Amino acid sequence: MLHFSKISHVRKQINKWKQQGNKIAFVPTMGNLHAGHLALLEKAKELADKAIVSIFVNPIQFDQEKDLQAYPRTLSDDKDKLLASGCDLVFTPSVDELYPNGSHITRVEVPKISELLEGEYRPGHFSGVSTVVSKLFNIVMPDIAVFGEKDFQQLMIIKKMVADLDMPVEIIGLPTIREPDGLAMSSRNGYLTSQERLIAAKFYKELQSLHKKLKEGCKDFMELQQLSIKKLNKAGFKADYIEIRKESDLMPVSAEDTDMVILGSVWLGKARLIDNVRVKLGVHSK
Ligand code: PAF
Repeated sequence: MLHFSKISHVRKQINKWKQQGNKIAFVPTMGNLHAGHLALLEKAKELADKAIVSIFVNPIQFDQEKDLQAYPRTLSDDKDKLLASGCDLVFTPSVDELYPNGSHITRVEVPKISELLEGEYRPGHFSGVSTVVSKLFNIVMPDIAVFGEKDFQQLMIIKKMVADLDMPVEIIGLPTIREPDGLAMSSRNGYLTSQERLIAAKFYKELQSLHKKLKEGCKDFMELQQLSIKKLNKAGFKADYIEIRKESDLMPVSAEDTDMVILGSVWLGKARLIDNVRVKLGVHSK
């Protein structure tokens, strides 16, 4: 596995691989890799000849300095995992390498959808994400990029950015990888105490229970959302939001909609967890 921290070195290697006719797949990450990231890498390897992973804790997507400082950095372990999983190249730029002019840089803004849900609670977050992902795409020049569906809104924003800016990258979304009790895998799960970890799975269970009620024909969306928030808060969470939205644009649903997604964000101790469940009405499911 090659390991570069300089943009020029990555460009040179990618050019070489492209000249040899290789298809490039890319998985951008912030490190602290878990089975969810490795599933993205597996998909990248399946779809292309060379699989590239970046590890970069992107300061401009953090709205809280203390969140940025506390974010787990585990480069040595991450590299071992990538090597064992057959990654071809890992790119680990420094903050100075990606932002030599500090944070006063050209920004990529995906309007409207970036302001909803997570955007309301984390102002500027998605502008930081779309800016760094654009930069990484310009460096790695991948044919394919693979993202997890756990960050459903992020995935939609990246897809819109790529379409709006005619970026020649195919975006692939991969279903969320979960712990045996259903908790979505996330680097932030490491912030949970053992006591909180026992409670954490109730978040996904609540989203599943909402899914069931929607499938049974319940259309009182507001009441369903509020009830879920109440139940989660009673269980020990502090819910930021539980929202039933249209899958196409994440706007509020109406009674005629059939393709929906339930999105939620809750605090549990120091961890802010996000998750989602898609709902297709009129389609039989377990
Ligand atoms: O999902 C993440 O880990 C980050 O938001 C990403 C896409 C690597 C950009 O920093």
